[in-house]
Amino acid sequence: MSTLLHINSSPLYGRSVSRELTDAFVSEWKASHPDGTVTDRDLNSTSIPPITADWVGAVYTPEDARTPEQKELLSLSDTLLAELEQADEYVIGVPMHNFGIPSALKLWIDQIARVGRTFAYVDGAPKGLLVGKKATFIIATGGIYDAQTQMASFNFVEPYLRSLFGFLGVTDATFLTAGGTMALNYGTDRETFLAPHLKAVQTHAQAISGGQA
Ligand SMILES: Cc1cc2nc3c(=O)[nH]c(=O)nc-3n(C[C@H](O)[C@H](O)[C@H](O)COP(=O)(O)O)c2cc1C
Repeated sequence: MSTLLHINSSPLYGRSVSRELTDAFVSEWKASHPDGTVTDRDLNSTSIPPITADWVGAVYTPEDARTPEQKELLSLSDTLLAELEQADEYVIGVPMHNFGIPSALKLWIDQIARVGRTFAYVDGAPKGLLVGKKATFIIATGGIYDAQTQMASFNFVEPYLRSLFGFLGVTDATFLTAGGTMALNYGTDRETFLAPHLKAVQTHAQAISGGQA
């Protein structure tokens, strides 16, 4: 039985393009995994504090030497890590904010990028520990950042997520981007705008499912 971890990070809920597209992915995934489990993690309704010196100290204290306070400090991180470890696949909705990822997603990343759990150093070289996972990132951007365009170098979303998740061992990653969503603020019909992106998401979800149930 497969498990899909469904993560969203747009604060816009009903107006969000990335949320609508990850929902479409989940529907498609459920159709091809009737016995599968979907874990939802909404980062805009999860209270994630920034990491502190005490948190870092707890992470670098060997597990069997941690105090009850240190264990408590790491409990949210442990919960979020368990979700990542238990899932086989991830779909992650990402709005571009200020050319990068939204702060809610960064707070989550700071909790799950943990030495000994998601990465290690072996003979001085980094080794990702989240192996055998398949990730789909669905990004929505107000402008257009396609390769070869003048704005391409302003896109820190995909390069960052590709590097970070690759570092953690998630090398089987697909990035689908709905670019130019600002047109929706200037009268473009939402259904018409979304149609090719919904199609791309469905096609990708079907392709990676390969008919498995
Ligand atoms: C706080 C904020 C910052 C944004 N910064 C950018 C940006 O730097 N570049 C851009 O192209 N669009 C930017 N946008 C527009 C969003 O990328 C766009 O609305 C996109 O559809 C967001 O995904 P969502 O619809 O899933 O929320 C920003 C939007 C917000 C709310």
